[in-house]
Amino acid sequence: MPELPVDASARLQPLNSLQQILGYTEPIFNAPMAGAAGGALAAAVSAAGGFGMLGIGGNVTKEWIDSEASLAASSGRGWGAGLMAWVLAKNMDPLEHVLAHGPSFVCISFGEPGPAAALAHESGSLVGMQVGNAAELSRALEDDIDVVICRGNEGGGHGRNEVSTLPLLQLALERTGKPVIAAGGLATAAGVAAVLGSGASAAWIGTRFAAATESMSHRNIKEAIGAAGIDDTVYTSAFDIAQRIDWPVHYGGRALRNDFSDTWASDIDALKAAVGADDTLTKHVDGARAKGDISLAPVYAGQSAGLSKAGQGAAEIVADLAGFRSVLQRAARRWETA
Ligand SMILES: Cc1cc2nc3c(=O)[nH]c(=O)nc-3n(C[C@H](O)[C@H](O)[C@H](O)COP(=O)(O)O)c2cc1C
Repeated sequence: MPELPVDASARLQPLNSLQQILGYTEPIFNAPMAGAAGGALAAAVSAAGGFGMLGIGGNVTKEWIDSEASLAASSGRGWGAGLMAWVLAKNMDPLEHVLAHGPSFVCISFGEPGPAAALAHESGSLVGMQVGNAAELSRALEDDIDVVICRGNEGGGHGRNEVSTLPLLQLALERTGKPVIAAGGLATAAGVAAVLGSGASAAWIGTRFAAATESMSHRNIKEAIGAAGIDDTVYTSAFDIAQRIDWPVHYGGRALRNDFSDTWASDIDALKAAVGADDTLTKHVDGARAKGDISLAPVYAGQSAGLSKAGQGAAEIVADLAGFRSVLQRAARRWETA
């Protein structure tokens, strides 16, 4: 057997130990998605051998966290939660509430993770951080982050719009021996094989699981994701501005294009003026969300919507993605040297 290059052998230990610590048999994480990834999705993904994650939004109650975390834990396997650093900077309660349920992993993204990471470590959880550019990657290489999630700008939901998944993943793998997980644009066994073949510890998948039967998303949202093509998305802050949600400016969101984004995404100044004038637009978008009117409400989804289907259960999705093994075997055979 040829000798492993030095950096690859240095990576083997953390790769194996992440799987051992978190207990997954399939290297598939459902992304923590506020509004989509509740306890039912997380439990179903963990039960199927993957690693289930809860998405904790900005205005959830303790009661919501208690019931969804109990559901996530009901699989009897490891589970985790994702929270937003800029929300926790104002109020650490959601993190404290979720930690009381004993997740083995928490991911703190979109802002400075330090204080939240310290609290999570005190509770015995591993801590991850999603990174979307080189500066965030450098921050994640500091001691208080255990797992780096490279989230490319093809991904759905909020994040940076600077670098795509593969360049970010390659840079992270060059720079660290910590476990690195790839996120953004992954929805098939071939995509999972691509990142695992590169050295990622796991694939972190949002959009495809947002359309799963166990997802909390409105059925119109799931159907819209299932029907979308890979080039039907837009990256914009327009939905946040309309809903008066205080996301830091460098974190817009990738969503399916609709009537609302076609009207406002290219004229953010006019949108700000309209929202500043009165609350008509805010009420329209909030109302559309409540009704599942996807012509106005945001349908957060990435380019992999074009590879996702509605109506599939999480176990079916995990089993399909587990086909990465045959993709890797076929590639290894094809390129074997004589
Ligand atoms: C509907 C939706 C909601 C999301 N909400 C969150 C969130 O609450 N917290 C978070 O850390 N990431 C969130 N994300 C981003 C995901 O963690 C992940 O980076 C992204 O989904 C990966 O790209 P993909 O959608 O192409 O799989 C969300 C993504 C989607 C699609």
